[in-house]
Amino acid sequence: MTSTSSTTDQNAPETEQTGKQDVSSRGSNRSQRPTSAAFRDFIASGWAPREEQPPAREQVADYTPARRAALSAAFPGERLVIPAGDLKVRSNDTDYRFRPHSAFAHLTGLGTDEEPGAVLVLEPQDEGAHEATLYFRPQGGRDSEEFYADARYGEFWIGRRPGLADIEARTGLACAHVDSLDDAIGKDAGQITIRVVPGADAAVQARVQELRTQMSTEEAQQADEALAEVLSELRLTKDDWEIEQMRQAVDASIDAFGEVARSLPRAVGHPRGERVIEGAFFARAREHGNGIGYDTISAAGNHATTLHWIRNDGQVRAGELVLVDAGVEVDSLYTADITRTLPVDGTFTDIQRKVYTAVLDAADHAFASARPGLRFRDVHAAAMEVLATRLQEWGLLPVDAATSLSPEGQQHRRWMPHGTSHHLGLDVHDCAQARREMYLDAELRPGMIFTIEPGLYFKTDDLTVPEEYRGIGVRIEDDILVTADGVENLSAALPREPDDVEAWMAALRG
Ligand code: GLY
Ligand code: MN
Repeated sequence: MTSTSSTTDQNAPETEQTGKQDVSSRGSNRSQRPTSAAFRDFIASGWAPREEQPPAREQVADYTPARRAALSAAFPGERLVIPAGDLKVRSNDTDYRFRPHSAFAHLTGLGTDEEPGAVLVLEPQDEGAHEATLYFRPQGGRDSEEFYADARYGEFWIGRRPGLADIEARTGLACAHVDSLDDAIGKDAGQITIRVVPGADAAVQARVQELRTQMSTEEAQQADEALAEVLSELRLTKDDWEIEQMRQAVDASIDAFGEVARSLPRAVGHPRGERVIEGAFFARAREHGNGIGYDTISAAGNHATTLHWIRNDGQVRAGELVLVDAGVEVDSLYTADITRTLPVDGTFTDIQRKVYTAVLDAADHAFASARPGLRFRDVHAAAMEVLATRLQEWGLLPVDAATSLSPEGQQHRRWMPHGTSHHLGLDVHDCAQARREMYLDAELRPGMIFTIEPGLYFKTDDLTVPEEYRGIGVRIEDDILVTADGVENLSAALPREPDDVEAWMAALRG
């Protein structure tokens, strides 16, 4: 990778107002950048003109106004600050790939890596509504030092970035240079309530905090948490555009699972076979979308009993199961979250099939119970009924199923300690700041998308189960859309019945 040492030395970005981290001198001790007037004149000249045509309005721009209006209605008369977040240093002059905060993506419709340092401000209007303005750093001209010298923002380093007119055309939002952000958020400071999304951009949050002279730190924190709560709850039901994005994320993931199955013969012969599987999924995720929505869990044998096994450095052995929990995040940043547990050599053993079928039955029972009006928590209860019953039948429970299912019991959770469902969308664990009454205790409504993902996990050192169960971990996870009169399994096209899984694997191996 090209070092920035030859270029970034005296290019101080204009970021003092919002207190952004000053990275202008990164690598300056190694700089060999020419500074002569002759160089500056020459590099600024001789380029073909840029296209004048603004980009097309994106379809999502028809949906974001309603999302912003819902937020506006919750906070009349208040200034709302929704940052995208900023670049995060990985080391020295190298940053992590940028992903905007999900609330920002939801309200602007921007995805992929747009746009570091951007901030959406909802300014209250007299009539109670808000006017939205997107502040960001537009592409500098070729006559600017940024063009050739700024490794974070310059066109020579990272490629073309949008100008104000580009983003206005695509999103339908009014746009302004980030240099005017401080004036915009500081106007009437002390007399107006300002809320900022917590944890999105430390510098912007600190600046807003400074401006809120009329609020105690505790009051300000509560104000921001309430904003985060509402932003989370706005995403509990998805609009038609979001549902389409989720379908695309699921379909891309199903294709990537095909690549996972194809990779198994090579994984078996590899000292870190789990990484072979992880890489197979990742390659398709990058081809189809922005990447993965969370770190892939590629867990063979006993590793499958570690719920979030993401080290993925183990061997994959014939005769064992491999649990793969992975999701493609599409460019709009919506992600799937799917788990399949596959027999490495293509055929389930009897005990593997027995455990697998119990998990599948639990998922199916949960699926059959889900419909508008059912409480979210009852989806989990339905899955647990099946698992507790099976564990009793197999003689593993120290009490009967009914006792185990009671709040005072819960012994069955030894082998299934996680929840059965979570909301899914821009975040893999979407809507996580929603209040309990809006999430766990809420009734299912059309447009909600959540997972159903029961599992059973018998660790190799679990002395409470017969030896044949030990080292078997199974999870089956699908992505569910609540419709007007029921639910739809968005990921149903990826085989889940054991016979279908075996047939699918055989077909893929040819
Ligand atoms: N897919 C990982 C999780 O739901 O926690
Ligand atoms: Mn999940």
